[in-house]
Amino acid sequence: MKLFDVYPLNNITITKAQGSYVWDENGVQYLDMYGGHAVISIGHTHPHWVKRIEEQLEKIAFYSNSIIIPIQQELAEKLGKISGKEEYQLFLCNSGAEANENALKLASFHTNRKKIIAFSKSFHGRTSLAVAATDNKNIVAPVNETDNIIFLPFNDEKALQQCFDEHGKEIAAVIVEGIQGVGGINVASDSFLQLIRSLTTQHSAVYIADSVQCGYGRSGKFFSHDYAGVDADIYTMAKGMGNGFPIGGILIAPNIKPKHGMLGTTFGGNHLACAAALAVLEVIEQENLIDMAKQRGMYIINKLKNIDAIKNVRGKGLMIGFDVPDEIKDLKKKLLSDFNVFTGESKPNVIRLLPSLALSRKQADEFLEALNECIEEMQPTTPKGELEKVAD
Ligand SMILES: Cc1ncc(COP(=O)(O)O)c(C=O)c1O
Repeated sequence: MKLFDVYPLNNITITKAQGSYVWDENGVQYLDMYGGHAVISIGHTHPHWVKRIEEQLEKIAFYSNSIIIPIQQELAEKLGKISGKEEYQLFLCNSGAEANENALKLASFHTNRKKIIAFSKSFHGRTSLAVAATDNKNIVAPVNETDNIIFLPFNDEKALQQCFDEHGKEIAAVIVEGIQGVGGINVASDSFLQLIRSLTTQHSAVYIADSVQCGYGRSGKFFSHDYAGVDADIYTMAKGMGNGFPIGGILIAPNIKPKHGMLGTTFGGNHLACAAALAVLEVIEQENLIDMAKQRGMYIINKLKNIDAIKNVRGKGLMIGFDVPDEIKDLKKKLLSDFNVFTGESKPNVIRLLPSLALSRKQADEFLEALNECIEEMQPTTPKGELEKVAD
């Protein structure tokens, strides 16, 4: 049987991973500045994470949500404490799309309304409502098309205000990434998120903070939306939550009341996934990784801003993007093939950095050195004599 060919692949087989490095089958070492698409939060194969999963595996890996699973409550308590949202309620699922699907559905149940506001360049996943709220027609199947999604320009406060003035009574939810990931590392302004908060409150709609990529400490705060100083009604999470073990979840404000049967899942919140997620939070706390991400991110961003060849450096914490001009458009490819550095991208010309939150200063320097050398090799060099002529 062949695999269903939906991914453009790098011709590399990774057989080992540790911290911020991975190795291929020939033992070649790579620096991972991509984190397997923002998933690796505490570092590959972290010993505490491995031990926690192994110990849980020896006891019980799975039972369905028809019994009491105490490790779910343990996870909820730890998550409440570290995120600062202790009064919220936790619903567990398995992926980012599922988290957003459940959040949107819950908002519709709660408000008894149908319309969702989403933004240009958004990405919320590939399931039915999540993909309908994603600003990419190429991945929306005819069956997912709906009139219930209203797309507005990202960070456009006037357009948002006008939409609520006209349709306020129909809006179930606004869904927004705090920092757009797939869209190319676009940071939502504080005033935009504050306006979303005040308009959703005023019109009894639900503010959904998609934190699947920008959450879990990556931005230097637990949720990047927290920079705006206002709370969302629902936070959706996945990627960094399990450090590679599949788990997603939503944090739900206390005023949104549950009803039996309203949401549900077979695998969500299983014992093994909860053990992985608890290990992640324990390491985040013990190793002070949220603050580390903030400091390391500032260091990298400042260094990147001094590199003339790349443009528009942006982001927060370890969620960083920059534009790659046409003259060096193969930068990402060359970084991987000639310098053994994995980075992320966003079409057509953005490089995204999404490394582990435990990236060391030495590893950051290793990346910056590789980047500088790579750019130097790609740029047509001006002969010395020519430079002198220009200087005259
Ligand atoms: C912001 C955001 N939301 C949702 C998703 C979907 O997550 P998943 O691939 O786990 O379904 C992604 C994935 O890249 C994402 O970046």
